Amino acid sequence: MGISLRGTLGLASAVAALTLGTGTAIADEEAELVVNEEIEMVVRAEAPDHLADTLDTIYSGWVFRSDETQALQADDFDNPGFVFVDVAMDAWNAADGAAGKSCADCHNDPMDSMVGVRAVYPKWNDEAGELRTLEMQINACRTGQMEAEEWKYDGSDMVNMTALISVPSRGLPVNVAYDGPAQEYWEMGKELYYTRTGQLELACANCHEDHYGDMIRADHLSQGQINGFPVYRLKNAKLNSAHARFKGCIRDTRAHTYKPGSAEFVALELYVATRGNGLSVEAPSVRN
Ligand code: HEC
Ligand code: HEC
Repeated sequence: MGISLRGTLGLASAVAALTLGTGTAIADEEAELVVNEEIEMVVRAEAPDHLADTLDTIYSGWVFRSDETQALQADDFDNPGFVFVDVAMDAWNAADGAAGKSCADCHNDPMDSMVGVRAVYPKWNDEAGELRTLEMQINACRTGQMEAEEWKYDGSDMVNMTALISVPSRGLPVNVAYDGPAQEYWEMGKELYYTRTGQLELACANCHEDHYGDMIRADHLSQGQINGFPVYRLKNAKLNSAHARFKGCIRDTRAHTYKPGSAEFVALELYVATRGNGLSVEAPSVRN
């Protein structure tokens, strides 16, 4: 995690061309996260086997945030993401669509029925024969079970609902499978992760694997993990999906980007999720 600038391009020139928001003070990388004095989050863990050649330890993005931002996540009353969890709870209980059903009609209390769900998505669905993100599963329930309109993939209804569904999994280890039929998507996601794109010719790995811990302008680079997603960002004062974050990062390299919900981003999400297997589900987390 030194300040060395490796790689053919050198991060310095790339950084000069980037327009990242201003960050704050350097984080306390040794800090521990206990939420509500109750949920002990695993914010650093032994890297999963498939990363054995590249990383020893995986870190939650929380570790790299400033003391002030870290503190906001330690108590749900201070975490602005919970405003949106409450909004989603109202949607959970409200009937919608031609079948006249609400999520609650079938799934009762999400704090019971959704325990562990966030931790294993994206997940292969045998019946549908597709790899499903949580968003895809929610839309499958909306259209198939409720006869309601799909929600926009990264719209506020959807991202708020994914946050609500994440809450009962907080503290559980991310445990996303990538064997069987999911494997080809995982390989595709891995390929995307390591492919240099854009005018800056940067891959996800150039920043989040080679340079985590370094400063990029005023921002402290993390490993780009998604165990905290959806995240509340101080920058835009709302919850943000993993795909919206991918899009932003790719745009910063001046590359063509994919759409939230696209096959490419679903595959990338699967791959990135498995890089965080072993970290705690944190969503809704707080970032700058
Ligand atoms: C008419 C009943 C019904 C309604 C209404 C419904 N669902 Fe579902 N939902 C199901 C069924 C059936 C499954 C599949 C169960 C299984 O195979 O695990 C499911 C699965 C899910 C899963 C995946 C759970 C897992 O263990 O992987 C999520 C998440 C989910 N629903 C969310 C929602 C949300 C959010 C709403 C409201 C927008 C909703 N559902 C509305 C019946 C319903
Ligand atoms: C030019 C460097 C750069 C590249 C390339 C890049 N990112 Fe990022 N990314 C950042 C910076 C800076 C941040 C904000 C600080 C942080 O959390 O690392 C960030 C944040 C993230 C986060 C949020 C992490 C959290 O805990 O909130 C994710 C996820 C992420 N990036 C994924 C990706 C993926 C996937 C790719 C490739 C498609 C990618 N990034 C490419 C610089 C980059």
